[in-house]
Amino acid sequence: MSASGGTAARGRPVELVDVEMQFGDFLAVERTSLDIRAGEFFSILGPSGCGKTTILRMISGFIEPTAGRVLIGGEDMAGRGPNARPTALIFQNLALFPLMSVAENVAFGLEARGMSKARRRDRAEELLALVGLAGQGGKKPSEMSGGQRQRVAIARALAVEPAVLLLDEPLSALDLKLRQHMRAELKQIQRQTGVTFVFITHDQGEALMMSDRIAVMRRGRVEQIGTADEIYARPATPFVATFVGENNVFRGKVTGLDADTAEIASPFGPLRGRPGGRLAVGDEAMLFVRPERMRFANGTIPDAALPAELLRRDLEGSFVTLMFAAGGEPIRVQLANGEADSAAEPGSRHTIGFAAADARVLPAGGLAEG
Ligand SMILES: Nc1ncnc2c1ncn2[C@@H]1O[C@H](COP(=O)(O)OP(=O)(O)OP(=O)(O)O)[C@@H](O)[C@H]1O
Ligand SMILES: [Mg+2]
Repeated sequence: MSASGGTAARGRPVELVDVEMQFGDFLAVERTSLDIRAGEFFSILGPSGCGKTTILRMISGFIEPTAGRVLIGGEDMAGRGPNARPTALIFQNLALFPLMSVAENVAFGLEARGMSKARRRDRAEELLALVGLAGQGGKKPSEMSGGQRQRVAIARALAVEPAVLLLDEPLSALDLKLRQHMRAELKQIQRQTGVTFVFITHDQGEALMMSDRIAVMRRGRVEQIGTADEIYARPATPFVATFVGENNVFRGKVTGLDADTAEIASPFGPLRGRPGGRLAVGDEAMLFVRPERMRFANGTIPDAALPAELLRRDLEGSFVTLMFAAGGEPIRVQLANGEADSAAEPGSRHTIGFAAADARVLPAGGLAEG
């Protein structure tokens, strides 16, 4: 790694090979292997306490895994501390140095690399321009907004030309508008620099929108790795199906199974969907249907038809969410505003359903909370 050169640092791949992290007798991260590609925007998504920060700390060298290996650019990082790795970390609770100017904050890591004062100033200005803060280096952090401070932190992390930038929930302290804006900015900075980003979040919208690929974690385990589309359309486990986006859940035993279709015996009678995971006839299973895939069974008869009472209608702007009760179970249906049936009245009775091609059947398992 050299301290000179432009902003076009090149990303390197990060490999975790059978990594484990044990704190005392608590296994915070179970045996995990990850292949993060050079220049990839890779997100780790999961609820609080599932082990996201722990994985980031193993990559950055703040902790050594209790088993397995971390490789960056093909090199084994064992025994190398954070300063000897080609990584930079933006912490979960970011802190700028309040008494330093913005430019001094950005240039902070460069002095230790023996860069001259004039060169440091130029470099800070270059990086501030990259994050959309050209000419603002003279301000103090306290004179900036939350989003601007976040961009300063990103510029500071990029100053040392990391091959891999590790970002631990960098947007979580920002309000919604700013967070949405920063998502696009961050993505653009990643594309522009070519640096490998490992981005941690517990916000599924953020992960879906920004990432080339996502690892979804639960209780110290990676349950699925894939693109946003893959994870949304073909969740691997009940947890992923309910943590990423909304899903209606129907339970029952598997009564029929072939390559394209699984049938379960549910309280509503037989229901069919596309099989996923390891299923066998007789197993307890869960069938998932996204709210936007649920339909009113008017005229056309879908593969499933459930009698249901409309409890609530929530207009959310461009779409409408209808909450039904069917056999004591809540069912959520989402329609485009203005679509037929989108103005149905609470208290009315309907038949709702879905196409088997829009349903996914998985071995029963734990759901996401809330
Ligand atoms: N140094 C440590 N000693 C003991 N237990 C730890 C240590 N660091 C983390 N843990 C535990 O490991 C688990 C995972 O922690 P981690 O910080 O990786 O979670 P996280 O997914 O980043 O959560 P959050 O979204 O809340 O930041 C937690 O149960 C935590 O209490
Ligand atoms: Mg964390």
